[in-house]
Amino acid sequence: MTGETLLGVRGISAGYGSRDVLFDVDLTVGVGEVVAVIGHNGAGKSTLLKTVLGLVEPRSGVIEFGGVDVTSADTPTRIDAGMAYSPQQHFVFPELSVAKNLTMGTYVLPRRSRSTEPADEVSALFPVLGQRLRQRAGTLSGGQQRMLGLAMAMLSRPRLLVLDELSLGISPRLFDEILEVLTAWSNAHATAVLFVEQHVDRALDIADRAIVLRGGAVVADRTGVELAGAPDRWEWF
Ligand SMILES: Nc1ncnc2c1ncn2[C@@H]1O[C@H](COP(=O)(O)OP(=O)(O)O)[C@@H](O)[C@H]1O
Ligand SMILES: [Mg+2]
Repeated sequence: MTGETLLGVRGISAGYGSRDVLFDVDLTVGVGEVVAVIGHNGAGKSTLLKTVLGLVEPRSGVIEFGGVDVTSADTPTRIDAGMAYSPQQHFVFPELSVAKNLTMGTYVLPRRSRSTEPADEVSALFPVLGQRLRQRAGTLSGGQQRMLGLAMAMLSRPRLLVLDELSLGISPRLFDEILEVLTAWSNAHATAVLFVEQHVDRALDIADRAIVLRGGAVVADRTGVELAGAPDRWEWF
């Protein structure tokens, strides 16, 4: 982490139709910083990530990425600028093979920077996927599909990796394995990670900082260590 801001979310309000979901949300992610978003179901965590990606249009506020105002930029432009996203659901193409899915993950890269084969790169990160390259993604276990979705996002070599509930529907052991690979990789490449997680303790273990959302508003923004040690932490939920 260099202390330089990569993502700046300022005063974002957003919603769906007449329904307001996010209220004046501020959030920054530094270069290489790992930031967790925690909060109850329905707090607006996924909506916040979608707003960062340009999938939900904010009603007001500003989003800056790499010092550029991207508030009105579309999603492909943000991906080109170095964001990658693994959503809460539908993160793989079930009818395509594992290898084809991985290739999809690298489509956003300029051709000249595709120096290594996606399959080789992913085999080093997640050997279990390397052994199943020809298998249809839809026939993988839930946890392996999650891994594949994450690998696709990682292979685009993002500056900011945005992850929504990696742990959903997978075993705690596999989740720990995935987190280990993710944190080592994020450190090695100085890649920032913004992630939503229901497993608060595990999230705080790996996060440099965490924000707590309640009813669409930020009620805490602290370092992971401060949050993990705060006696009143459960009152924020
Ligand atoms: N596409 C949508 N259309 C209408 N309401 C939505 C949509 N997506 C989410 N919501 C509503 O917005 C609120 C926040 O949802 P979400 O951001 O998914 O919360 P979280 O990820 O924290 O569980 C919820 O009340 C949810 O029902
Ligand atoms: Mg969600």
